Amino acid sequence: MIANHIKPHHQGLVHLHNMQNSLQPLCLSLETLHRVKGRMLEAMERGLSRRTHSHATVRMLPAFIRSTPDGTGKGQAVGAQGWGPSLYPPQAPPPGPVLWSALELRCQCPPIPAGLWLGEGSHLFAFLATCLWEFLDGLHMPQTDFELGFSFPFSCRQTRLDQVSASPGPAGGGAGGRGGWLGSLGRYHIKVVAVVNDTTGTMMSCDANAGPCEVGLVVDAGTNSCFMAEARHVEVVEESEGRMCVVTEWGSFGDDGALNDVLSPYDHQLDQASLNPGRHRFEKMISGLYLGEIVRHILTELFSRRTAPALLTKGSVQIQDILEITDEQFGLATARRVLRALGLEASDQDCFNMQQVCKAVCIRAAGLCAAGLAAIVSHMCRSRELSRLKTSVAVDGVVFRAHAKFSQTLQQLVKQLAPECDVTLVQAEGSSKGIGMVTAVASRLAAQRLQVNQTLGLLQLLPASLGTVQALLRQEMELGLKKETNARSSVRMLPTYICATPDGSERGDFLALDLGGTNFRVLLVKVGSWERGGVQIVSEVYSIPPHVAQGPGSQLFDHIVECIADFQTKQGMMGQTLPLGFTFSFPCQQTSLDQGILLSWTKGFNASGCVGQDVVKLLREAVKRKNHFALDVVAIVNDTVGTMMSCGYDDPSCEVGLIVGTGTNACYMEELRNVGTLAGEEGRMCINMEWGAFGDNGCLDAFFTPFDRQVDEASLNPGRQRFEKLISGMYLGEIVRRILLELTDKGCLFRGHPSPKLQTPDIFQTKFLSSIESDGLALRQVCAILEELGLHVSCEDSVLVREVCQVVARRAAQLCGAAVAAVVEKIRENRGLEQLAVTVGVDGTLYKLHPHFAQQVQETVRQLAPCCSVTFLQSEDGSGKGAALIAAVACRVARHQRA
Ligand code: G6P
Ligand code: BGC
Repeated sequence: MIANHIKPHHQGLVHLHNMQNSLQPLCLSLETLHRVKGRMLEAMERGLSRRTHSHATVRMLPAFIRSTPDGTGKGQAVGAQGWGPSLYPPQAPPPGPVLWSALELRCQCPPIPAGLWLGEGSHLFAFLATCLWEFLDGLHMPQTDFELGFSFPFSCRQTRLDQVSASPGPAGGGAGGRGGWLGSLGRYHIKVVAVVNDTTGTMMSCDANAGPCEVGLVVDAGTNSCFMAEARHVEVVEESEGRMCVVTEWGSFGDDGALNDVLSPYDHQLDQASLNPGRHRFEKMISGLYLGEIVRHILTELFSRRTAPALLTKGSVQIQDILEITDEQFGLATARRVLRALGLEASDQDCFNMQQVCKAVCIRAAGLCAAGLAAIVSHMCRSRELSRLKTSVAVDGVVFRAHAKFSQTLQQLVKQLAPECDVTLVQAEGSSKGIGMVTAVASRLAAQRLQVNQTLGLLQLLPASLGTVQALLRQEMELGLKKETNARSSVRMLPTYICATPDGSERGDFLALDLGGTNFRVLLVKVGSWERGGVQIVSEVYSIPPHVAQGPGSQLFDHIVECIADFQTKQGMMGQTLPLGFTFSFPCQQTSLDQGILLSWTKGFNASGCVGQDVVKLLREAVKRKNHFALDVVAIVNDTVGTMMSCGYDDPSCEVGLIVGTGTNACYMEELRNVGTLAGEEGRMCINMEWGAFGDNGCLDAFFTPFDRQVDEASLNPGRQRFEKLISGMYLGEIVRRILLELTDKGCLFRGHPSPKLQTPDIFQTKFLSSIESDGLALRQVCAILEELGLHVSCEDSVLVREVCQVVARRAAQLCGAAVAAVVEKIRENRGLEQLAVTVGVDGTLYKLHPHFAQQVQETVRQLAPCCSVTFLQSEDGSGKGAALIAAVACRVARHQRA
């Protein structure tokens, strides 16, 4: 019970019994306050929801402030305050323009003539503009450009941080206004960067170094609050990322009857006699403009036996009197003075009773305020999915400042009403500093946005640029196919000696190896009839440690043979010699199906003594070294080809194979007559494009950003696989990391301090890029992913990191799409078709696991190859299956040739 201990003194004007009866309606139990909190939460939800926002009592107006100060706000900003009837005691600075500069405040205070508040809005704003001009002139500063933050304590509908339209507020203001009121200010150029509510200014004035302060509360002539809400819950704005400050406008809470069981007869009397009956019911129980009236109505009832005309006059009891009366030391003397001024000769008991009345009114106000505040912090805690929330609440306003009991009661009750939150009330230094802070934050964010846009702009591709990439690849393909120009082309266009896709008649058991992607696999592939289940696979994954991938070639091939032996032992196949298809995902010049000269290593491989050698021969030699089993290698296959064959087994129109994983590449069925590097005119052959090297001859130089160049230079193969380094999983994380380092350097991230972790190459892997962009991932989860990498991020940081990932992955997908478009268009033209329907078999971790990559590739292909209807079919079993199918076809052909 927020009870008042009424101690009888001696008999005075008021009987004790009357006293208790009169104050009873003001006593709110903890249970009632819990109820009020619950209803406030419901009202807040209605204000946040797009469906109910327009008629909600608690409006929950977005303030377009996305972050609280981080202590790096620098520069100078002017804060102009234009507010209504001031409750400031004479010694406190009255409103006026304030220059904020690195937290130093200077005030100059022209009084605002009362008439301006109720008259034509343009007059008020013209007056404010003149004040500002005089203020700036008085500073004698050489500077002429200023950024302005404008505190405007009325209910405002904001569309941006620097744009508002106002409606008349309860605190007495009648003049509406807009951010465009500055017009010309002599020699000064003023840019309005923020218009803020006083609650926001209060919240932002908190010391950034004392932990997060994400709630602002004002209990002055009026009352209001604001807090940092999760943007995705503020449905009336488009943003779904990060946080957004919401001004609750809670003064109107209860205007729909939600407080009817809490309202006392005095509240009804006060409301009826007010300028706006039925409105601002919550405010009328809490704020300074009304507490005096509530006290007056109680006194009228208590002293009904005495006639005192002054007591019947509205406004005869002032908030200052009440605040002084509640003072333990001097309160009784003030009570006597006030009662006397009201025409009542009061006894000690009367003075004591008067004090109790004032305390009861103030404590009820604090209780209701606590219920509202508890609703806010509980909402924050729940919507952030936290088990505990820790925040400071910046509080301002004369009621809070002048009445110590008010803040104590508020603090205690919030603790009881929201036990899951650690709330510290902090007395704000007035909203002027906050306005400066908002202005500084706004200007910091605007400057940062500019930097971010400049940096990320380098990676954004216009449709015309994608068209250029498509055309360039087409050109390189033509060069690569012709014998005379092949050496000039960056895409090798390698013949594969595969001239047909499977026809379903393949049968038998085959071994397959699959080397070059994330995993090295050995597989047993049983190819049967459809009725017998088609293709069945048993496989084992083996690791290739980096020292093996980058050591002597003989060691790599010995390792591969050991893995095969292990697999055969596990499968009980030792001694059997099955035909083997070898998926080897590196560029190889083939002269037949079972021979492939390694042209270069790519991705993370760099084993010595292999380039220029026949890979099948290297494998056979390793088997010989081991001397305990035999291998019958019938085909060496690139993974793109394996994928195309594997998908072609299910869909005969699959004539393109695409890989977007650790590396990237594609193959497709080309007309033999176009393959100038081979004899023969009839039929088609699968061409392994090796498009990863596209641009190695300089034709893509205009598209490389400084980040791409850094990644290339630090790679195992500088100057090589330039297109792959823009697209594939092995490099995207590194591009992201380099951009993050640059943005940190520019002060847009991690408060400008790079963590040592961020300096670590390869900390971002493909799976990280995929998970951070997952749909519906709460920001908290993004933070958790980054924390797991050892990066300590703020909410804003994680939004920016996600944006960087999006931009880098989108560019990769679009470039990949442009390349696919070049391929399918070539097939269409080869065949002289108006419209081509073709299937692309796809594999690779980036394509398969990234939440948006596939869709962005497909979208780009649709745009750039409108005459092709392209179906993307994901390979389910990896390209090992394709290699086995190729081995099966080879065996069938060999059988036919023998027969
Ligand atoms: C398939 C193949 C691999 C290939 C890989 C690419 O699954 O079986 O040989 O290299 O796709 O994907 P990754 O993301 O592992 O590089
Ligand atoms: C290789 C290609 C391979 C691709 C996808 C590239 O680095 O050069 O042969 O197809 O990666 O794995």
